[in-house]
Amino acid sequence: MNRTRRLRKTENIRRLVRENKLTIDDLIYPLFIEEGENIETEIVSMPGIKRFSLDRISKELDEVVELDIPAVLLFGIPSKKDDTGSETWNDNGIMQQAIRFIKKNYPSLYVITDVCFCEYTSHGHCGIIHDNDVDNDATLVNIAKQVISHAKAGVDMVAPSGMMDGMIQAIREALDNTGFSNLPVMSYAVKYSSAFYGPFRDAADSAPTFGDRRTYQMDPSNRDEGLREATFDDEEGADILMVKPALAYLDIIRDLKNNFDRPIACYNVSGEYAMIKAAAAKGWIDGDRVMMESLLSMKRAGADIIITYFAKEVAKILQKK
Ligand code: PBG
Repeated sequence: MNRTRRLRKTENIRRLVRENKLTIDDLIYPLFIEEGENIETEIVSMPGIKRFSLDRISKELDEVVELDIPAVLLFGIPSKKDDTGSETWNDNGIMQQAIRFIKKNYPSLYVITDVCFCEYTSHGHCGIIHDNDVDNDATLVNIAKQVISHAKAGVDMVAPSGMMDGMIQAIREALDNTGFSNLPVMSYAVKYSSAFYGPFRDAADSAPTFGDRRTYQMDPSNRDEGLREATFDDEEGADILMVKPALAYLDIIRDLKNNFDRPIACYNVSGEYAMIKAAAAKGWIDGDRVMMESLLSMKRAGADIIITYFAKEVAKILQKK
């Protein structure tokens, strides 16, 4: 008889046949950086995650470096917003200050910036509004200005998350024309219009004041369209393709892994984090084990890189092993 249990008998044989592993090398830790001073605000729906002003962020960064987490993904929360999100391309904006601060004080840490407008626009949408909707091509002009400003500040990689058509090409051209042809782009290539972003919008103060994001983010019903989105970004030269959210979209992660010869990333988003934290706080699940199991499922689905608010906790568990 075929007996699959033979290879499950002891931990050592299980180690030998284990197919997937989560490692610290897989992790990117998101950071919320708020313009101002003396800010260290807990985000209620994301226990353990805070918004920091730059003068208070060193302890957090020391810990990230100490835990050997390779990279951080920065989100800026500006003190002033306007119609176009013009603070995003201010060379002295919060994101630009944060990039310079981290690269100066933590040169080994790899710094990635989220490239979007929703935290910077008074209406909370991811671009310029015309006729009650985001104007794709007008927004591309501003995305180019934003990435050049991040590049000049010294960022290591940019990650556009606004789901505008042609954004990767616009960014690639802007960077190549200004001497940044070696700066890589991680595309939020397949990003769904998801209720799992709820806690983030409180954290980053980026909820739309009217309507929703369904005219630019993807319909959760669609799978084939994910391949189309990824194909365009691949052709436009994205260096890394990302799927977001992660846990409810493991099929899409696997589709990308099977179809593209690029590193695949996934974003374990705020709502996924909040659900585990809330159930664990009630004692209904073992939070650490559910965390490790769900992140492992993303690796198994094909993710090479996982962006996660759990990064520090995971690194602590993995360091002990
Ligand atoms: C900005 C952006 C969002 C997230 C990452 N970048 C919010 C959104 O699209 O509404 C969500 C991250 C999370 O939920 O953890 N466009």
